[in-house]
Order: sequence, then C-alpha cells, then structure tokens
Amino acid sequence: MEPVSILAISTSPRRNGNTETMLDRSVAAAESFGARVEKVVLSDFNVGPCREIYACEKNGECVIKDDFDIFYRKFMAVDRLVMAMPVFFFSVPAQAKALVDRCQCFWVRKYKMEKTIPDRGNIRRRGYLLSAGGYSKPHTFDGVRKVMKYFYMTLDMDFAGEVCVEAVDEKGDIDKHPDVLKAAWDLGMASATP
Ligand SMILES: Cc1cc2nc3c(=O)[nH]c(=O)nc-3n(C[C@H](O)[C@H](O)[C@H](O)COP(=O)(O)O)c2cc1C
Repeated sequence: MEPVSILAISTSPRRNGNTETMLDRSVAAAESFGARVEKVVLSDFNVGPCREIYACEKNGECVIKDDFDIFYRKFMAVDRLVMAMPVFFFSVPAQAKALVDRCQCFWVRKYKMEKTIPDRGNIRRRGYLLSAGGYSKPHTFDGVRKVMKYFYMTLDMDFAGEVCVEAVDEKGDIDKHPDVLKAAWDLGMASATP
C-alpha cells in the first residue's frame, strides 16, 4: 500500500522557534512510522493575502500569481496536513491567515461548485494543529482552533488532533516541556496511520 502522505507547514515567522520544534518532532514520528512527509516553512514562500476579487467564483481557482499555486496543488493531493503556528493576539499569525484566506477558492469549489476532494482509497483526509502561546490566559487557543477547524472542513479534512501549549514564549522554551514534545510525537504517529 502507498504510504500516507503528509504536508507539514511551519507558519511561524521565527525560524526554529517553539512551534517549529513541535512540528519537527511530529515529522520525525510520522517518518519513523513510514509516512511520506514533506516539511515546508511558509516564510520561504511568497503567499500574499486574498484580495477579494472573487475571480475564484468562476472555476474554484485563485488567479493571484504567487506561490499559493504550489500550496493549492499540494492541498489537493496530500492525505494529511499538519500546521504549526504561534498564537498572535489570540489568533493565527498573519502568514498563516493569508494562506488560509487564499483557500477561499477551495470554499468556492466545495460549497458553490459542490466539488469535494476525494480521500485516497481508504486513507481519510485529516488535518492537525500544533500551537504555542506565550501567556497563560483562558481561551488562548479558541481563535486558532476555530480558524483551523473551519479551514480543514473547507479542505475536506477531519480536524483530527491538536497539541496546544501555553506559557511558552522565548525561543527554546519548548525544550523545557518534554511532555509537550512527546504529545507532538504522538500526534505525528497518529498522522501516519491510515
Ligand atoms: C505579535 C505577537 C503576538 C502575540 N500574541 C500572543 C497572544 O495573544 N497570546 C499568547 O499567549 N502569546 C502571544 N504571543 C507569544 C507567542 O505566541 C509565543 O512567543 C510563541 O511561543 C511563539 O512561537 P514560535 O517560537 O513558534 O514563533 C505573541 C507574540 C507575538 C510576536
């Protein structure tokens, strides 16, 4: 059987920060369980915001010419998406939000054109979230969770798991939380299973 294919996206603007470290742990687990994983760092790409011109209403494709096209094709093809992001002002960082908003074309495909993205055989499409926030406040992850839930729904993926950790702020703070890194490993393992 074909291995499960996973796209792992680090959306933090800070390289090798807390959420990228969590992502790397989940990627290592998924690879060790036989998945085919591609990790990308969003800041290496040029993905601008949605311009609300509604050109995607014509055929479910975005007409803005930047690197979004690369993500569009990958989102169509992969079995799993694992997105890692810090909390910024109780929400997803702007870089991740730009990518999410550009997926309005998938929203058009699904809800206006009634075209769904099929699972590959019996491998159900699934999405996962890894997140960190610097403070310890109630509802820190509510915004991120809501955006990602709706995002994965639009991509015909089940929101299948998350690891969210608060009070992790400075670069490297995550290393003081082996339990969280273990949870990220377990999430990666789960993402590799069909
Ligand atoms: C612009 C900005 C906004 C932030 N807003 C929040 C917030 O609302 N809640 C929170 O808990 N942490 C907030 N933080 C802290 C980060 O979420 C935290 O440092 C996180 O560990 C960064 O993860 P990274 O190293 O993967 O980028 C903010 C940081 C920045 C730079």
